[in-house]
Amino acid sequence: MKEWDYFDKITSAKGMWLTDSKGHKMIDAVASMWCNVWGHSKPELVRAITKQSKKLQHTSIFNITNEPVEKLAKNLVKISPGMHKAFFSDNGSSAMEISFKIALQYWHNLGEKKKTKIMTLQNGYHGDTFGAMAVGYVPEFFGKFKKHLFPTIQIPVPNQYRLPNNYTLLEYENYCLDMIEKIMSKDNKIAAFVMESGAQVAGGVIIYPRGFQKRISEICKKYNVLLVLDEIATGFGRLGSMTEYTNQKSNPDIVSFGKMLTGGYLTMAATLVNKKIYGSFLGDFNDWRHLFHGHTYTGNPLAASVANESLRLYQKERLIKKIHNTSRVFEKYYDEISEIDIVGDIRHKGMLMGIELVKDKRKKTPIHPEKSINKIFYEIGKKNGIYLRTLGNIVMLVPPLAISEKELNMLICNAIATIKDARKHV
Ligand SMILES: Cc1ncc(COP(=O)(O)O)c(C=O)c1O
Repeated sequence: MKEWDYFDKITSAKGMWLTDSKGHKMIDAVASMWCNVWGHSKPELVRAITKQSKKLQHTSIFNITNEPVEKLAKNLVKISPGMHKAFFSDNGSSAMEISFKIALQYWHNLGEKKKTKIMTLQNGYHGDTFGAMAVGYVPEFFGKFKKHLFPTIQIPVPNQYRLPNNYTLLEYENYCLDMIEKIMSKDNKIAAFVMESGAQVAGGVIIYPRGFQKRISEICKKYNVLLVLDEIATGFGRLGSMTEYTNQKSNPDIVSFGKMLTGGYLTMAATLVNKKIYGSFLGDFNDWRHLFHGHTYTGNPLAASVANESLRLYQKERLIKKIHNTSRVFEKYYDEISEIDIVGDIRHKGMLMGIELVKDKRKKTPIHPEKSINKIFYEIGKKNGIYLRTLGNIVMLVPPLAISEKELNMLICNAIATIKDARKHV
């Protein structure tokens, strides 16, 4: 904290650009914490918020409801094959807590009270609240709280760049899948398998091998375990598909969205469930099957309005198709980035790129400077006109999804310049 004795104040933002109080401009390579879709100050989104703010700013969805949130629930079910109902919250961590509670209570509602264990992937990330830390346990972030976290069954993840000795990617992938199957076949107390959909983002941009998630989905079905997916960072086009689980040919029982749901303008998340799950919560009052969970700002009409407008624009501007083309811009730079002497690996899918920095390319030792890597990259990035954030030794390129090819070229060039300039500091 001592290193951050001063923070730049962002006073305005337009399109892909942030402007601070001293008039410096930076291109937003963080998509304002991975959530910005259309760039800043998108007129249609600002209008949607303004219009709704004149009618109804907030009311609870406890016993009552509102029109924008009902419309959003329908919209979400429409874009999410296999899903039936939506449960709203106001941030991704809460959406994941809700998904765990729904999964555990599902078995309780069915009278299967012994099914209480959660299986998950090592190094996943599902948020910063206690349940989310227990399931998405990144040791560097949460080690200090370990003894307060409920136990989970953790399965290793195939990371092509850091495979254990002598394994090929395929062999290691099969090793991980076999481990899941072996444990599930012997333990009938497992309630749910929880994983990020398509890739682990905060845990180091680990993009799953093709077919990995599909196999997990099949194993879950075989052993009657719920599949709970987290699409908070990877859905809504970040990895190139509206819903990443369909691209992965997997069939979740519960899936959560957040971040990009409102285009990145207001705080909202949603946990969607299939018909089977929803049905188990239906009962008379004294059956006590309903879910005890709610937040003050659940279903906020301003957030729901801007989310509906953003979803309309996905269609109107054919955003997913556009992303397919724009994301190819990253590929042009693979060679130039890999040649930098501190770059160990590049991992890219859709509108997400992670660049892993190492001291020694052959030994793959992560860089470990005395100062915060994040601070070094922020400051040098700022000089190069780019807002960058690192995660450990990984430089993250996470632009707003609707960025133009021209601006994405500029963003990547500014990032390359920053990595090169940072070499003498790391
Ligand atoms: C995959 C994933 N799940 C959950 C979360 C938590 O979302 P929030 O920060 O809105 O609580 C994040 C945040 O980065 C995330 O990447």
